[in-house]
Amino acid sequence: MSSEEETSQASSSSPPPASSCSHPPDSHFIGKKEDIVKAGRMTMLVNRCRDVLVVHHQGQLHAMDTRCYHSGGPLQYGDIEEFNGHMCIVCPWHKYKITLGEGEGLYQAVDNPTAKPLRTHWCSKGVKQRIHKITEVNGDVYVTLNNSSEAIESDVYQTEKYRTFLLKAQSNPKNKK
Ligand code: FES
Repeated sequence: MSSEEETSQASSSSPPPASSCSHPPDSHFIGKKEDIVKAGRMTMLVNRCRDVLVVHHQGQLHAMDTRCYHSGGPLQYGDIEEFNGHMCIVCPWHKYKITLGEGEGLYQAVDNPTAKPLRTHWCSKGVKQRIHKITEVNGDVYVTLNNSSEAIESDVYQTEKYRTFLLKAQSNPKNKK
């Protein structure tokens, strides 16, 4: 993991004064761009309801649900790689690939399982990870949560029930490495 890709919890930046607010409605201040760029990644609980990962990669900021749609893996520790022309975060648990821009799950399909050598091509499973909107105003970065009513698989890991389960699992000494 390069220094650009280190993970940090958003905590140090203070929100801009109300008088300078020209941010989009329903958006949430998450930090100064320079701090996010320096950290490479940040995770935060936005609006006290959504765990969001913000990634700075190749000059762009992206925001998505923090836990992987497959089984809740911590995406903040995933590598970023390009697959079939799409920049993806690779979940550290089972290596699922999720596009940074759209939240699509990508996989390699085998053309003909009986043919040797095997030939594969990349396919999309559709949007699996909820992507949120990032806006930058004068160096301040805001997240607007994607509140579309259409269910997206990563929603499962954003419930209070799962958060409580995760906290219990993390505090269990048997689960500590
Ligand atoms: S939890 Fe992410 S790939 Fe399984």
